[in-house]
Amino acid sequence: MLLECCGVLFLVSVLTYAIPHLLTFLGREQDLYKKYAAGCTDRPWAVVTGASSGIGLEFATKAASQGFNICAIAYPDAHMETVKSMATTKKVHFRCLPIDLAGVPQAELEDKVKKMTEDIDVALLFMCAGITLFQDCAVGAENSLRLLYTNVLANMHIFFVLYPRIVSRPLLGGRSRRGGVVMIGSMSSFFPVPFTTMYGASKAFLTSFGSALGPEAALSGVDVMVINPGPVKTRLFSNTYPLSSLRLSGHMAQTTVQITRLVWKTLGRACMYSRDAGMCSWGLRLLIKCVDPYALGLLWAYTTRFLGDYKNFILGKKPFVLRHCAPGA
Ligand SMILES: NC(=O)c1ccc[n+]([C@@H]2O[C@H](COP(=O)([O-])OP(=O)(O)OC[C@H]3O[C@@H](n4cnc5c(N)ncnc54)[C@H](OP(=O)(O)O)[C@@H]3O)[C@@H](O)[C@H]2O)c1
Repeated sequence: MLLECCGVLFLVSVLTYAIPHLLTFLGREQDLYKKYAAGCTDRPWAVVTGASSGIGLEFATKAASQGFNICAIAYPDAHMETVKSMATTKKVHFRCLPIDLAGVPQAELEDKVKKMTEDIDVALLFMCAGITLFQDCAVGAENSLRLLYTNVLANMHIFFVLYPRIVSRPLLGGRSRRGGVVMIGSMSSFFPVPFTTMYGASKAFLTSFGSALGPEAALSGVDVMVINPGPVKTRLFSNTYPLSSLRLSGHMAQTTVQITRLVWKTLGRACMYSRDAGMCSWGLRLLIKCVDPYALGLLWAYTTRFLGDYKNFILGKKPFVLRHCAPGA
């Protein structure tokens, strides 16, 4: 009897996970312009943090292809030119805020975002700016806090400037949705890995925040979702050590196009406020449905010291430079 009950509960757990993932996976990509811009006389804008490369660039490209003007927020370097020339090719208006999200005082960031967007109609917000870090917490706070500022706090400051404006967009042209917000979590948000402590925690924040905001925002006519990818082929890890664990997961990495398709298929559908993406993410989610996180902690406790990455980079104290950070910081 007990075994049967456990079997039924497990089945319910797997099916309630798999069915919405499958339904949205099989669905068609949406025309977000039709969904959020019908009836508008002026072309609405998509604001994208981290728009200069990787997933953010792909989101910006897709939004521009559907007709949105693009407002890019990213680090002030040559990569900004990539998104600018994309917008020129797609013949949409383009604005940019080149800024170091980890270094700017938060009040100044809010002020700059307000000024940049005060005369435009923002319908979409993609929160993609992020960095990663593989480091022993005992090394010190600086890199970890830069990561926290970039991945979470700066994105949240931008969110709180723009979200109330998306919520107050009028419903024109018979449409029922005002706009959308997309955040990027990670499988690290539900699968803690030692030495990537701050990265996983930053992603857990976004996943938790977005999952709770989803049903709240839906009542106001705004679609919110978090996507939790496994490894994706981007520059994210370009400054990390040549970790053997990354080489392994790299074989299963998705492309930014695949991630974008999933977002365009899912946003505002099937009450999916948090969606996993890719074999690694789906596999780990199913694993933690079977094995309690306690057992994973136990596994890490007994295996970490034997892993090559730990021996080479943590014990070996190889120098590490966080993206956009002066050497030695
Ligand atoms: N790639 C993956 O395997 C993976 C998996 C799960 C989740 N994610 C998440 O996906 C998001 C996008 O990452 P990605 O993979 O597309 O990596 P990416 O190609 O490195 O893109 C990151 C973006 O954030 C910007 N950025 C980084 N630090 C910044 C700072 N201090 N100030 C302003 N902008 C800054 C980058 O600007 P620059 O181009 O100028 O550096 C770039 O536009 C991140 O939040 C990441 O955590 C990625």
